[in-house]
Amino acid sequence: MTVTIVGAQLGDEGKGGVVDIFGDAADVVVRYQGGDNAGHTVVVGGEEYKLSLVPSGVIRGKTGVLGNGCVVNPETLFEEIDALRERGLDPDVRVARRAHVILPYHRVLDGIEEEAKADDDQEIGTTGRGIGPTYEDKVGRRGVRVGDLLDPDVLRDRLEYAVPQKRTLYEDVYGGDAGDEFDVDAIYERCREYGERISEENMAVNAGEYLADRVDAGEELMLEGAQGTSLDIDHGDYPFVTSSNPTAGYAATGTGLGPTVIGQGEVVGIVKAYLSRVGSGPMPTELDGDLAEYIRDEGGEYGTVTGRPRRVGWLDVPMLRHAARANGFTGLAINHLDVLAGLDELKVGHAYELDGEELLATPASTERWSECEPVFRSFDGWEEFDPQAVADGGYDALPAAAREYVEYLEDELDTPTYVLGVGPGREETVVRQDPFE
Ligand code: IMP
Repeated sequence: MTVTIVGAQLGDEGKGGVVDIFGDAADVVVRYQGGDNAGHTVVVGGEEYKLSLVPSGVIRGKTGVLGNGCVVNPETLFEEIDALRERGLDPDVRVARRAHVILPYHRVLDGIEEEAKADDDQEIGTTGRGIGPTYEDKVGRRGVRVGDLLDPDVLRDRLEYAVPQKRTLYEDVYGGDAGDEFDVDAIYERCREYGERISEENMAVNAGEYLADRVDAGEELMLEGAQGTSLDIDHGDYPFVTSSNPTAGYAATGTGLGPTVIGQGEVVGIVKAYLSRVGSGPMPTELDGDLAEYIRDEGGEYGTVTGRPRRVGWLDVPMLRHAARANGFTGLAINHLDVLAGLDELKVGHAYELDGEELLATPASTERWSECEPVFRSFDGWEEFDPQAVADGGYDALPAAAREYVEYLEDELDTPTYVLGVGPGREETVVRQDPFE
């Protein structure tokens, strides 16, 4: 069966931790979208691992697959594999032949477009990893795929078509001074090296076929979405989004498994008990001042990839209702309940008010969303607790006020909680239901 893990908010909900907990039961951990814009830290046996592309399950000896919906920077891929090997691991990583390759010019163009937008305060605040430009080329049918790296003639043809266009764009539109990042021969040489290594290490797969065979063999697959629903190119607050679909529907498209296969499994929505955002865009429940700083510090809300301080806010329930519908969650994981401990009072944005009307879910227009005023509900705060004692004692060991908060969310989203994160460590978790069981 499959278990699909999806961020319900704006990324950084603690998906890596949930993947890590349930990953034990999985044989294969698959990413279906995004690239090295994601970032997660996993602590195993006291050792800390930071990964942005390779699925973290490989640390536990699982097969990690980058599906066709991903964009792959081979530099990052090999750096992460090499770093794991240096630490004595033997990661089994497979890459879809249909996945698109992030090339050096994609990063340059990502940066320069952000700079251009910044002139009018319109920048997205991207991670600068070349994600948007690579997906643009995929849709524009001028991309280079992993399979192309393995075929010198096809690779050269692809580059000879795409690179001069990019060079012209960079020089003539943006006034840049193009270097090796826009040189066909230089990129070709690098790409051939990537291709040779991918071949030597037998990494390239036809993802759909490879994964379907493993499902047929009775294995367990965990499909790991990166970023979150409100960063989805279709369902998020466009244009302040990433360029792929973190929502669960793309777990089918981005792996080559059928929607019926994914639909027979579980779809777990990961919710942080408050809200954070790295880049630009509306955030009606945003906090500032001392309270924001307190939550940011308690929650360690600084970007894993970029180190940027994250914006923080109260939980936004309209955003979560939208996410529950768009993804069809069968269960929830609510993380970081410990971060809110010690506050006298908590608020959640229960609804929005827009033009005198109450809205229960986010409007489809980002401009309208930014005009929404949150309608808050207050909850009693809960006292500090010992995370390990709560993890050992189970759900009933949580302070009563925290349980009230959790049950409110279960009711509003009509979805049970499978997991509660009560501390930063893997063991500091209350598992109410294992989706693989
Ligand atoms: P991009 O994915 O680098 O193009 O960035 C687009 C938007 O998505 C920006 O607001 C980023 O801050 C945000 N973003 C991308 N990846 C992540 C992530 O893993 N966590 C949180 N935000 C992200």
